[in-house]
Amino acid sequence: MKKIYTKKPSETQDLAKQLAQKSNGGDIILLEGDLGTGKTTFTKGFAMGLGIIEDEIVSPTFTLMQIYKIKNSKIKNLVHIDTYRLENEDQLIEIGVEDYLGDENSVCIIEWPEKISNLLKNKKTINLLIKHVDKNTREIEVT
Ligand SMILES: Nc1ncnc2c1ncn2[C@@H]1O[C@H](COP(=O)(O)OP(=O)(O)OP(=O)(O)O)[C@@H](O)[C@H]1O
Ligand SMILES: [Mg+2]
Repeated sequence: MKKIYTKKPSETQDLAKQLAQKSNGGDIILLEGDLGTGKTTFTKGFAMGLGIIEDEIVSPTFTLMQIYKIKNSKIKNLVHIDTYRLENEDQLIEIGVEDYLGDENSVCIIEWPEKISNLLKNKKTINLLIKHVDKNTREIEVT
């Protein structure tokens, strides 16, 4: 377990980029943290670390799950899941989430993973907890 402090959004994105470059197919990254702590900011940095262009990255709040195809890479898909508006886990199962969770060609990154704890049970995950310290400072704990 380690704690990292970032002092501006770009520092959170740089940390995410570094983690992305070390990530492997099958990884499942859980982003816990209150509203506005920087989960989507982190995800954008992570996506850029995999070579996805920032403009393409949207918040999946209304789509639940957004799949980015990655060219010329061992990792073929970045799957961004945001369960904030999810009513129940079945909604995600219906749109095929289980094809991606732990799939060797995909990395999944999940905002609000608490809401799908059943789906994540028995899965190996990388857990990040982001805390709001002050206006521009965040504490990011990786376990
Ligand atoms: N050190 C920092 N790291 C990340 N974001 C920061 C930091 N300092 C300030 N911010 C700001 O905090 C906000 C984080 O918003 P973001 O949408 O990434 O949060 P979120 O956790 O995804 O929120 P939600 O729960 O609504 O999905 C942005 O406006 C960003 O500019
Ligand atoms: Mg978000």
